[in-house]
Amino acid sequence: MIPLDRYPREIRLRDGARLTLRPMVREDADRLWDFFRRIPPEDRMYFREDVGRKEVVERWAENLDYASVLPILALEGDSVVGDATLHRNRTGWMQRVGTIRIQIAPAFRQRGLGTAMIREMRHLGEKAALRHLVAEAIEEQQAAIRAFEKMGFDPVGVYRNFVNDQKGRLHDLVVLVYPMPYSEVEMVF
Ligand SMILES: CC(C)(COP(=O)(O)OP(=O)(O)OC[C@H]1O[C@@H](n2cnc3c(N)ncnc32)[C@H](O)[C@@H]1OP(=O)(O)O)[C@@H](O)C(=O)NCCC(=O)NCCS
Repeated sequence: MIPLDRYPREIRLRDGARLTLRPMVREDADRLWDFFRRIPPEDRMYFREDVGRKEVVERWAENLDYASVLPILALEGDSVVGDATLHRNRTGWMQRVGTIRIQIAPAFRQRGLGTAMIREMRHLGEKAALRHLVAEAIEEQQAAIRAFEKMGFDPVGVYRNFVNDQKGRLHDLVVLVYPMPYSEVEMVF
């Protein structure tokens, strides 16, 4: 189990804004839904689930299971301004691989919050003894690709015409991998 005693944790963005990071709890359903409603349609187009439907977010809140999906929220006061999730498999060949997803409210982009949340995911990945973190982005999501690359993720492959948006158009999927710093040492010895 990942120790969560560091939360709630206060962070400061480079412009001085103070935010709180903490795991999502059941009572956050309305706050999170409000957050997704403020995400522009062009970004929502690429979501895996239709977060414009409140019942989708309510289902997440009802079925929280940190061992499988650990959602960390960034809050300004009572409002959610960022959401990052660490997805894990309990068993099987992917049990040492974590997948991360991240979403920042438009008003908080390009202020360093994405970087802070990717750093937080790396920390949690280390606590979970993962060997690799994986992030996936549509080729058009260049901001995301750069943000991950800046934090040490390598674009290791592109699946051409692999995923569709909500209008059914196909897009290339870029897969980025971050090897946890200790994982290579473990492989050598
Ligand atoms: C991608 C995303 C998470 C980045 O969050 P952010 O808070 O803006 O990130 P930061 O301010 O920490 O920026 C990190 C780096 O990303 C890159 N970046 C961010 N926005 C960018 C933009 N609009 N264009 C180009 N590069 C950009 C820069 O390299 C930046 O580093 P710098 O500040 O040293 O220049 C945010 O834009 C977002 O939520 N996008 C929509 C959702 C998405 O694409 N999610 C990824 C799929 S999981």
